[in-house]
Amino acid sequence: MKQKSDKVGRNDPCPCGSGLKYKRCCIGRDSAPRESLENRYEREYQIHLKKGPDIEGLRKAGKLVIETLDLAASIVKPGLKTEAINTLVHDFTIQNHAIPAPLNYRGFPKSVCVSVNDVICHGIPGDYRLADGDIVNIDVTSILDGYYADASKTFFVGSPGPQARKIVQVAKQSLKEGMAMVKPGNRVGDIGHAIQRYAESKGCSVVRDFVGHGIGREFHEHPQVPHFGKKGQGIELVPGMVFTIEPMINLGDLSLRILKDKWTAVTRDGSLSAQFEQTLLVTENGHESLTPYDL
Ligand code: MF3
Ligand code: CO
Ligand code: CO
Repeated sequence: MKQKSDKVGRNDPCPCGSGLKYKRCCIGRDSAPRESLENRYEREYQIHLKKGPDIEGLRKAGKLVIETLDLAASIVKPGLKTEAINTLVHDFTIQNHAIPAPLNYRGFPKSVCVSVNDVICHGIPGDYRLADGDIVNIDVTSILDGYYADASKTFFVGSPGPQARKIVQVAKQSLKEGMAMVKPGNRVGDIGHAIQRYAESKGCSVVRDFVGHGIGREFHEHPQVPHFGKKGQGIELVPGMVFTIEPMINLGDLSLRILKDKWTAVTRDGSLSAQFEQTLLVTENGHESLTPYDL
């Protein structure tokens, strides 16, 4: 009879109970199993690693966010007041038994961020009417059963000019470059480095003042995920981490100012700015987007 080896294989679950593969955990150790990764990430970085039911909850929230973004996209056209996007997002979110996270978040007055042209992020929907040739970012964050998911896209209004086409393409590809770095063993700095290298190679700039973020049962959790940085630096990515990547890319200079409403961030030089955002889960082999859409 074939004897089954009791040796732990490199790809077997680690005997310490971390849920990681042996090769990613205790393989180098000969005695006492080390502290679980969950505990260590909590203690050292205040990062809440997610598993099981939490991931399922986040996935559901993410699905609703993408449905909401698709619905919002369907009404974007010249002449539309940005307030109409707010009304649609708010009502659809409530109908789906969810809560629009931006509303009253640190005093934000609306249910969605709508950022047009030189607005980098945190645009407040209102009386402005979209015009042919504008670009508009819609950033949706919903809370479903206590779980947050966060995603955004930048859309063309009517027919884009060459500058609009360029900045939207570069911002979209920037998110893609960042996402390609999301796998266990890489570090947070690898994400920012990939984005910065790509965006700057196209003559664009990367906003420094706002960063991606951990997300889960709170809107903004640890870690911060800058969209610039150095290869190999920062916290190591491990399965169960959930965070956003949301590069804001400017056609001109990276410097910004905040309007009197205390929220709206605009480029100082008036150049166009675009952004794409997804919520990502680090898996054993790479990542899963919890707010998936094609890039
Ligand atoms: N959704 C934004 C982000 O990606 C945060 C918006 S905060 C708000 O992190 F208050 F403006 F809604
Ligand atoms: Co975000
Ligand atoms: Co967002």
